[in-house]
Amino acid sequence: MSDDINTLANDSIQEIPAYTPGHSIEAMKKATGRHSFTKLASNENPFGCSLSKDELSQCFNDCNVYPDINTHPLIESLAQKHQLSTDQLILGNGSDEIFQSLALAFLNTNDTVLSAEHTFSVYQSATMLRGATYTPITMKNYGYDYQAICQAITDQTKLIFIANPNNPTGSYLRYDELSKFLSQVPNHVIVVLDEAYKDYVETDPLDSNLNLLQSYPNLIITRTFSKIYGLAGLRIGYGMADKALIQLLNKVRLPFNTNTVALNAAHLALETKSDFVRHSQVMNQTGYALYKDAATSWPVHCLASKGNFICLVMTHHSAEEAFNHCLNHGFIIRKLTSFGLPNAIRITIGKPNQNEGVIACLNQFFGSKS
Ligand SMILES: Cc1ncc(COP(=O)(O)O)c(C=O)c1O
Repeated sequence: MSDDINTLANDSIQEIPAYTPGHSIEAMKKATGRHSFTKLASNENPFGCSLSKDELSQCFNDCNVYPDINTHPLIESLAQKHQLSTDQLILGNGSDEIFQSLALAFLNTNDTVLSAEHTFSVYQSATMLRGATYTPITMKNYGYDYQAICQAITDQTKLIFIANPNNPTGSYLRYDELSKFLSQVPNHVIVVLDEAYKDYVETDPLDSNLNLLQSYPNLIITRTFSKIYGLAGLRIGYGMADKALIQLLNKVRLPFNTNTVALNAAHLALETKSDFVRHSQVMNQTGYALYKDAATSWPVHCLASKGNFICLVMTHHSAEEAFNHCLNHGFIIRKLTSFGLPNAIRITIGKPNQNEGVIACLNQFFGSKS
């Protein structure tokens, strides 16, 4: 019966590969019989949620009524934080939803979408949902090759997705590179700058990319509360762009796409949790330095990462082997096979004891002294 149902799905959906999430703790407990695991596979905040249980419980007020998304104070707070007008913002059920809305709003079946070879898979699935063509461009040193992307633009190109920092390689395009890139992109192409990990980037305290919005009405920048604010389970992200672009996205979003609890929680976190954010940044840097140091004695290429994760491209081992070894020691990491990197793993930078645990485990795996 399920085969018959599959034949009923529209042609584009049949081609979409299923999303491969990081393995969950519950699934791994079931699969292995082991009682506890530390999950460092989905780039979540290891310090938990930025809000306490009491604070979270306040966010449940008014759950009997539909959320008033357009006038929720979160919009005003975000506008102030980023020095934009409120009509330059759109909220999403995670930034994932905004990628899908962009595909719905802009793509026809004969359009093409460009991105990088090893990047976040939602760009591809959103493209395929509309029956458009997804063209991943070969990367340069595991980073976005913006010149190659420019050269690949044709009259059919409609969207370009750039994850900055990139997941899973951690690469980062600087302001000057982005600026040069945007100046070469024709007006008929929308550029999506996915800044899910931006809060971890130390080199740009002025948040300069936002300035680009003034010059480029074909640019949208997306951010999320899932990472540094530790609200991944509530699903809330946002997009910033010229108001004409936001108006189009508002046409395709469901009327109540974000929920009251998530809106209230994001607002409270944004207004009151700068210490939590700072702590997460500092601990991330310390953890990153620890991994970088340890990796010098491993047979790996440890990619420079601006995100909250480390990406190791191994020279003698497969992702499967490393994943299984870590799993046997109670750590769930991410094998990057589904990202087209069968010899690479991605590890979310954790709390100090978690980082030390994974490093000891990998020292053993790679046969180095700990
Ligand atoms: C590059 C990138 N963009 C977006 C997201 C999704 O963010 P959200 O939770 O806001 O949907 C992720 C999640 O891991 C990601 O890695």
